[in-house]
Amino acid sequence: GGEMAEVAERTLWWQDRRDDLLEVAEEGAAYVYDAPTLQQKVDDVRSIDALDRVFYAMKANSHPDVLRLFEKSGIGFECVSPGEVERIVELFPDIDRERILFTPNFAPRDEYAFGFEQAGFLTLDNLHPLEAWPELFADKEVIVRLDPGRGRGHHKYVRTAGNQSKFGVAPNELDRLSELVEAAGARVVGLHAHVGSGIRTADTWSENALFLASLRDRFPELRLLNLGGGMGVPERPGQRALDVAEVSERLAKFKAAQPDFELWLEPGRYLVAQAGVLLARVTQTKQKGDINYVGLETGMNSLIRPALYGAYHEIVNLSRLDEPMTMTAEIVGPICETGDVLGHARRLPATEEGDVILVGTAGAYGRAMSSQYNLRQPAREVLLK
Ligand code: LLP
Repeated sequence: GGEMAEVAERTLWWQDRRDDLLEVAEEGAAYVYDAPTLQQKVDDVRSIDALDRVFYAMKANSHPDVLRLFEKSGIGFECVSPGEVERIVELFPDIDRERILFTPNFAPRDEYAFGFEQAGFLTLDNLHPLEAWPELFADKEVIVRLDPGRGRGHHKYVRTAGNQSKFGVAPNELDRLSELVEAAGARVVGLHAHVGSGIRTADTWSENALFLASLRDRFPELRLLNLGGGMGVPERPGQRALDVAEVSERLAKFKAAQPDFELWLEPGRYLVAQAGVLLARVTQTKQKGDINYVGLETGMNSLIRPALYGAYHEIVNLSRLDEPMTMTAEIVGPICETGDVLGHARRLPATEEGDVILVGTAGAYGRAMSSQYNLRQPAREVLLK
């Protein structure tokens, strides 16, 4: 039906690789990532000519094979914890440290010292580190994250600017920032803004650039603007994709007007979301009252986004792609919570035990946010070359 057509338009790769996927699913629940799609996404971001550097926000998906592919493509990595930095350094011992950007948030003192040792660049999110540990910053180059005041994104939990958000230095703290920077002997070489996640409005990044550049007079050594991540992908049927060409045009215009700054971007979701699917076999089916349930071998322990954000992921019966949709069901997992639902009121063909269900657009913040709740191991991960 129409629903299938829209799904297929967005992520064709899994239809072409259906036999491979069915084979993978025989061994149990799995996240499967498609290498050519990952490469395509890097190429998409690289098509934005105005960008000088791209850092992959590895929190979205830190599977070693995914990281290897991105490393080969030449982009850098945005890391938010010592664990993330260590993973990069272990996988790529010879990597140019300028490809590692460390962005801790409310982290303890030690992590800043670690960051200066291990990463090429460090982003400062609060005044506290400068106030409390100025000795760490003497003669150091830093990037400062500012709060432009207005957040964007797919859910309030992922809007990262404005009064309700814990992130960034507010514009009314800029005088104090300058004092602290001077007292510590630090050098602000970059400014950063990241306003949220899952954004499909093309003017977001050029607006960030304009906001940051408007503060240039306060920072004599300013040479780079990090415009953040947040590039969204369509999730629900009928949603429009982010217009990357328009993002590119707007940034080109900015760059033409203000050529003195390097422009950086740090996308996570955009690079991995559509390259990943979650596969799980049907364990049981049930009808209770008016409601049909299709039970899967894994649920919120593998993918918490529906429970946490009400996020929508397309759901397809991969074993019966060509059969007519005859039932409406709740797609649930085996976890002991009523919220263990991957999809509400979804249309499916007549579905039976053993069928393989595909949960789409699951490459970002899927396995990365999984848990062992109920002592059930989350789905394993497989990269298809
Ligand atoms: N840069 C910074 C400073 C960030 O905080 C984030 C994400 C990114 C870049 C990458 O954002 P992306 O391009 O992936 O939107 N778990 C949520 C998303 C949380 C995003 C956290 N910060 C979800 O599943 O929707």
